[in-house]
Amino acid sequence: MQENMQPITIKPAMSLRGEIVVPGDKSISHRSIMLGSLANGTTTIGNFLRGEDNFSTMGAFRSMGVPIEDDGRIITVRGVGLHGLEEPEDVLDCGNSGTTIRLMSGLLSGQSFFSVLTGDKYLRKRPMKRVVEPLTKMGARIAGRGGGTLAPLAITGGSLSGIDYNSPIASAQVKSALMLAGLYASGETRVTEPSISRDHSERMFRFFGADLDILEKSVVVRGGKELKAQDIVVPGDISSAAFFIVAALIMPGSELLIKNVGVNPTRTGVIDILQAMGASIILQDEREVSGEPVADILVRHSRLKGIEIGGDVVPRAIDEFPAICVAASVAEGRTVIKDARELRVKETDRIAAIAAGLRAVGSGDIAENDDGMEIEGVEQLKGGTVESFGDHRIAMSLSIAALASRAELHIDDVSPVTTSFPGFFDILQKVAVR
Ligand code: S3P
Repeated sequence: MQENMQPITIKPAMSLRGEIVVPGDKSISHRSIMLGSLANGTTTIGNFLRGEDNFSTMGAFRSMGVPIEDDGRIITVRGVGLHGLEEPEDVLDCGNSGTTIRLMSGLLSGQSFFSVLTGDKYLRKRPMKRVVEPLTKMGARIAGRGGGTLAPLAITGGSLSGIDYNSPIASAQVKSALMLAGLYASGETRVTEPSISRDHSERMFRFFGADLDILEKSVVVRGGKELKAQDIVVPGDISSAAFFIVAALIMPGSELLIKNVGVNPTRTGVIDILQAMGASIILQDEREVSGEPVADILVRHSRLKGIEIGGDVVPRAIDEFPAICVAASVAEGRTVIKDARELRVKETDRIAAIAAGLRAVGSGDIAENDDGMEIEGVEQLKGGTVESFGDHRIAMSLSIAALASRAELHIDDVSPVTTSFPGFFDILQKVAVR
């Protein structure tokens, strides 16, 4: 076993009952540090996600001279203005965070200094061409391994020009990298996507007073406009809530209220998919906080049935597929997932990883396809021994599968869970009725 691996054994439970709060949204937390750093004035961030990925973003901005304080409750970012970042003395370590490395590559392309971005062994395998190629078209000078397609990426900042880019993939990371570069580019930077990906950057750019137009599947950023500091409260992360939503759905007798969850329509694909499978999920007290829709989510155990999932809903649920697959594994009939090739290039190949995990715990027949998978539901999973493949969402998805299994489950390593959801196992312990 590797030195810092953290194995766990999870025992089955009868149901999930109670009321929980999940930590702040990972995507919004990243963006709040980034825009707060580039704004003029002091930004405060409440309910910031204190996960490893967000600490990577925070560390990078501190290394570029941005004073960022954390009093345990509120994060205070003393913005340095659009042109106030300093050349970092050392390589910027993005850890496991794709959002950090891809968004920063756009931002750093427009600076007047040199920087290098790298990350852990998983991040160094993930495709960077998707950002390097369009940024190069804007005039960015980026070198990297594999002909500039893999981290470490070395960026020689300089002047950029806006482009009109038709992205071949629906990716908020690609879109946001170009939007951040667009803040520094001459003219207009336009990004058009095949389907809408999460729009947190658009909302936060607007919140901070950037000059942009938001169209149906496009965003247009005009550079040069100074950003104004804001007070932000980050909603709970629907991607974190998703594990508990699925767990409550598949365990008889469950009733769970998840308070204060972000329900931005570009993120609620998981709710739409599960409702189509027959789930009882009710949004209560819908409101808006810091430009983002928020609600409380009430979930009750439901008999789920297999469905076909594909098309525009896929990018709206992209991080939730491991949890959705767990739901499918105990649904009646067959679930078919397609148009989800992106799952192959997440923190790990999530199609292969979740298929391996579910097979190991006694799922029905699973077929892996290039762009998705097919899962035959069974009455109940049986427990066993599985691997997390260093992926936080695989670890958490298999943990909830364990609750609904006949026998206990051993997971080789749940240390990656702190990437996005510190406190996951404490909450699980609190609401699991045994
Ligand atoms: C994210 C975008 C998505 C998502 C990731 C966070 C973001 O990635 O999977 O967890 O914060 O912009 P892609 O842009 O690669 O789809």
